[in-house]
Amino acid sequence: MAISISLTVNGAPITASIDPGTLLVQFLRDQLRLTGTHIGCDTAQCGACTVHLNGRAIKSCNILAVQAEGAEITTIEGLAQNGTLHPMQAAFKHCHGLQCGFCTPGMVMSAVSLVHRQPDLTGDDVRAQLDGNLCRCTGYHNIVKAVLEGAAGMKSSGNPVTANAAANANTASAGAPATAPATA
Ligand code: FES
Ligand code: FES
Repeated sequence: MAISISLTVNGAPITASIDPGTLLVQFLRDQLRLTGTHIGCDTAQCGACTVHLNGRAIKSCNILAVQAEGAEITTIEGLAQNGTLHPMQAAFKHCHGLQCGFCTPGMVMSAVSLVHRQPDLTGDDVRAQLDGNLCRCTGYHNIVKAVLEGAAGMKSSGNPVTANAAANANTASAGAPATAPATA
């Protein structure tokens, strides 16, 4: 039996009818078509599915969509504002912190959340704190550089969180995309 959930995704209020067993990542990708949130494993280990729930990074393959009832969700599509990359996205681009890009949305979402918790980071902090995000391509060196540069960028630009709220202020209905397609 389908049930109704209401939540906010990238600043847009959403009400949808879902199967109670739907994972949050399935809801975001399949129902809202926010395919920047990736699925890289089935064991909650890779972090490719990382999004923000009420400002905290979580693995969206590891909770049911119904558990996000009333929550504010931000996905990678919600970071850029008015066509300008979030400082963390810009840093990943500038530092070549990606190759295939599969891990990148989750990596960026985890990094933004990390900087909010711990604005002053060392490389060792980044390595330790992002150990829940796996990358098969880069060897992590440029990812660490990117997170440090992104942290500095967030600090100098007032530590922006997410937003796109203004651009996504419309009420979206079930099955309709809340934002533009994936960026990474
Ligand atoms: S898909 Fe969620 S941790 Fe791998
Ligand atoms: S850039 Fe390919 S998995 Fe990280």
